[in-house]
Amino acid sequence: MTDLRSNMTSYEFITSGLPRQPDESVWKYRIRKLFTVKSMKSIDEDHKTSELKRSLNVFDLIMIGIGGIIGNGIFVLAGQAAATRSGPAVVISILLAGITASFAALSYSELATMIPISGSSYTYTYATLGELIAWIIGWDLTLEYLVGSAAVAVGWSGYFKFFFLDAFGIEFSSSWTEAPFIYNSTTSTFETVPGAYFNVPAFCIVVLLTILLVLGIKESARYASFVVSIKLIVIFLFIIVAGSRVNPENFQPFIPPNQGSFPSFGVTGVLAGSTVVFFAYIGFDSLSTIAQESKNPQRDLPIAIMGSFSVVSIIYVAVCIVLTGVVSYVKLDNPAPLSVAVDAIGFRWLAIMVDLGAVIGLTSVILVTLMGQPRIFFAMANDGLFPKFASKVHPRFGTPYVVTIMGGAIASLGAAFLPIDVLAELMSVGTLLAFFLVNIGVTILRYTAPDAPRKFKVPGGPFLIPLLGAALNILLIATASVATIIRLFGWMAIGLILYVFYGIKRSRVNNQEKCIEKATT
Ligand code: ALA
Repeated sequence: MTDLRSNMTSYEFITSGLPRQPDESVWKYRIRKLFTVKSMKSIDEDHKTSELKRSLNVFDLIMIGIGGIIGNGIFVLAGQAAATRSGPAVVISILLAGITASFAALSYSELATMIPISGSSYTYTYATLGELIAWIIGWDLTLEYLVGSAAVAVGWSGYFKFFFLDAFGIEFSSSWTEAPFIYNSTTSTFETVPGAYFNVPAFCIVVLLTILLVLGIKESARYASFVVSIKLIVIFLFIIVAGSRVNPENFQPFIPPNQGSFPSFGVTGVLAGSTVVFFAYIGFDSLSTIAQESKNPQRDLPIAIMGSFSVVSIIYVAVCIVLTGVVSYVKLDNPAPLSVAVDAIGFRWLAIMVDLGAVIGLTSVILVTLMGQPRIFFAMANDGLFPKFASKVHPRFGTPYVVTIMGGAIASLGAAFLPIDVLAELMSVGTLLAFFLVNIGVTILRYTAPDAPRKFKVPGGPFLIPLLGAALNILLIATASVATIIRLFGWMAIGLILYVFYGIKRSRVNNQEKCIEKATT
């Protein structure tokens, strides 16, 4: 850590001269303040004074990573993408999505070793692109995590219902297991669903997991390891048992001919399928939000990010091959494609196990997503960009309980009232924006802090992978629906208003005279 400070002189130069210069106009000064970066020294100090418990080892981190990644994307969206967009070539779609996400995973790994503090890409952009962009990304991440946990909870609710029906013949009423609103993309309006009132299972799972998180990260990590193991066993059973029944005829045609519109089959369908299954890779980024609770973040975070990413990529390719190999892709447009596939080849017991594995697997995704969100708020509150109460740590449990409860409350209401497609697409677009800024941040930091110690470096220099990754992120954002892009910008506009009326005035970096003096001496 001492090395980090002594090596950062070129970087700290950016924060120096913070007071208004004699020949500087007020507007020029204000604009300059918007792009003030948080110095590495200050990040390093926050790191040292963190009150959060350092209890996670590399195994815990990998388990949390896998737990956060494998979820709706492979259990639901891969089959649906095969049925409606890519056909058996969904394996190509998942590979393309994996390549896009892997660029961001490499960038996250590099930054995680340089900036080992909670806050994810929020902290990374604060150190590279300045306060305004950091606020934008922090606010964007709250969208990703809040909306994401709600989205996965809605998927969880569907599997929960399916499991009880399948295993015990118990059918829950849709009035209390479905969202009361759907989004009509033709009229661009929300409509009420007759007879649906409240998604009780989705609401309850978020509330339960929020309580678990308030009780303590170590307990939660143990829980994550347990559920991830079960999820992996079920997926391996699926690959091995169903894999023995693959019929090569199901792979024909590998890329079904295009049916007249961009997303339906053909080469463009494979690309569109890639955007859908991109959701399957979201989650490894939340590892960087728990850096302060890791025992050795600089060594362990890159191992955990790349390790969990590699494991899930192999699993995804295998699942896609088996899934489209055991039944015709046309049969996979279903809320539970994996169960349908094994049921169709006569493995009823495996279908029930897959249902159960999905319920358990999605639980760990919600857990990890819920775990990431409060830590963004926590980091922002510590920087003065959010009210101080948000940075309160529980005296007994050592967890950021105020923001955990706030986030849990918002996510549970979103899960209870909103449909999965609206929530899932918003999550993907929010994540792509975060990935874009992280990729760009790597390139900028290579120039503004060339001598900073990096225990891990993105291979191929400062341009190739980060900029290619950033371009792919923009491409995928551009292929999202217009309504989702409008929602993203609406959320961002609210964030900017909050920043102008609160954050800009209270920001620790821009408003602490002591800090300024220290930086300029
Ligand atoms: N990757 C996570 C999932 O597939 C978000 O559910």
